[in-house]
Amino acid sequence: MPWYTEEQIEEVRAANDIVNVISSYVKLKRSGNSYTGLCPFHNEKTPSFSVNQERQMYKCFGCGAGGSVITFVMEYENYTFPEAIESLAERAGITLEKNEADKQHKEQESIRIKLLEINRKAGSYYYAMLKSAQGKAGYEYLKSRGLSDETIRHFGLGYAGQGKNNLYQFLRHEGYQDNILKETGLFKIDERGAYDKFFNRVIFPIMDAGSRVIGFGGRVMGDAKPKYLNSPETKLFDKSRNLFGLNYAKLGKNKNMILCEGYMDVIALHQAGFTNAVASLGTAFTIQQAGIIKRYTDEVLLTYDSDQAGQKAALRAIPMLRQAGINARIIHMEPYKDPDEFIKGNGADMFRERIDNAENSFFFEIEIARKEYDISDPEQNTKFYHAAAKMLLEFEDKVQRENYLEAVAAKYSMRRDDLKSLVIRYGTSIQGNGGITGIQKNPGIKAMNKLKNQGISYSYKLLLSLIIERPGLYKQVKDIVQVKDYFGEPYRQVAQMLYRQLDEEKLMPARIINCFNEADIQNTVADMFQTGFATGLSEEELEKALNELVVRIKEYSIDKRTRELTDMNELKSLIQEKKALQTPAKLHIYLKDG
Ligand code: UTP
Ligand code: MN
Repeated sequence: MPWYTEEQIEEVRAANDIVNVISSYVKLKRSGNSYTGLCPFHNEKTPSFSVNQERQMYKCFGCGAGGSVITFVMEYENYTFPEAIESLAERAGITLEKNEADKQHKEQESIRIKLLEINRKAGSYYYAMLKSAQGKAGYEYLKSRGLSDETIRHFGLGYAGQGKNNLYQFLRHEGYQDNILKETGLFKIDERGAYDKFFNRVIFPIMDAGSRVIGFGGRVMGDAKPKYLNSPETKLFDKSRNLFGLNYAKLGKNKNMILCEGYMDVIALHQAGFTNAVASLGTAFTIQQAGIIKRYTDEVLLTYDSDQAGQKAALRAIPMLRQAGINARIIHMEPYKDPDEFIKGNGADMFRERIDNAENSFFFEIEIARKEYDISDPEQNTKFYHAAAKMLLEFEDKVQRENYLEAVAAKYSMRRDDLKSLVIRYGTSIQGNGGITGIQKNPGIKAMNKLKNQGISYSYKLLLSLIIERPGLYKQVKDIVQVKDYFGEPYRQVAQMLYRQLDEEKLMPARIINCFNEADIQNTVADMFQTGFATGLSEEELEKALNELVVRIKEYSIDKRTRELTDMNELKSLIQEKKALQTPAKLHIYLKDG
């Protein structure tokens, strides 16, 4: 994969005006210094997406997406960083010299390739074991669960035997060294020796959307605990961004996807012909997974387990799906526990019938809320009215909200007009759902309230964004909060680059964003730059907040450096800084000078 120099990246970025580029995807309207429109990264009816031409950055106040023009193209087109650079270069008519790959990136890339290779070999090894005489127990277990040979092959199921490190020995013979084997997450390697993570389990390879093995799940063949073990997160395996079964589910021309809880559910469903089933991987469903599903479909059928935990999981997943612009419907599994057991007990036709009768997810949510109240009791009934009104606020679209309101009122014999007036009341109150007005009115107050309960990184974020909003403050800030006072990445790196830009009087935050080549980190960095902290606060409030921030960051830094002290020369400076902290006048930053 070709990589580009910082200069090349900057040339491409500078040649592509952000308003110009985004306008070709999103309808933008000018408002003051910025442009606004409907966010393309989540479903909304009122615009909370804003593009700032001066800073060459965008930000969505609804879903938090944000970054430079490069981030936008990466996220919108689902491009990698170099792909985004190449497409923007082409757009601006720039020819990119393909230079020698950056050493570090090349190294990372070659580690990934090696890990993929090892995973593939491990998968084949487990599969071969299953099919061998030694794998009899595993093979019989899978058969007893109703899986055909074809299904076992299709999903590449396998078996990890009794030995302490069979797979490890096998891979060592294949020529892999401990340092790379350690990174697979498949072994525990220390002074005492090497152990396979999986033994005496049937194995479920986890594949990414391109059918490459990125991790494994392993199930005991009886009732022992833990029932499943899963690969840890590795350079290849990010649980929050993968779905089991997606490599097959994405192939079909289905109008929806079935989302369930377990490996066996997905496999049983595919075997029964429902090849659009996927599962989140032994963890709670994530917003990233919702975003991935959205690439393929607008409708999800939720088949979570019928127990309490499954219901809770569904209640968590529905708003995330909704946020991603996916409509969810619920398939009930009663009297069975999960899709696997349902299919075994009732067959595929009955499951199809359940799909056809899937329940609207809003009715599902509201019915669960209703169960919390005894509506024959007037007090409780009132509370239910309030709860229902708040839930209705989730619908941004007025017509849709109205339709749901009618339906809910009819279903629970509620007085429609009373319900409606509550909806209006909550919708216009400050505590009401921010989504109803779109852009948050007062980010400054919000940020200040949040400050007390947030980690140090939140303070870094506020301070850096404030410096960008008011570069005049930098001269005062830099004497007090220096680069060494920032801890953790990307904060220190960002602070360093930003300070350098300000020293050279060439402030261009978008340029910093592009020093990070993953969309995630770009989002984080962009977010750092646009909290809108200064808006909505009076000058006094802002000055007070700024000084609180500075003290907080200094205290944290002094404390941390004191604990980690190794160099005695540093001690003197620490003592001085500590003293200064106790004489607030010395540290005070004045807005009017800024
Ligand atoms: P379930 O406990 O519902 O199991 O866990 P299941 O899928 O029905 O499994 P079978 O049918 O008994 O074989 C649902 C999912 O949660 C994860 C796994 O991904 C599992 O498929 N899980 C469960 C774990 O990661 N670890 C566990 O110990 C249990
Ligand atoms: Mn099950």
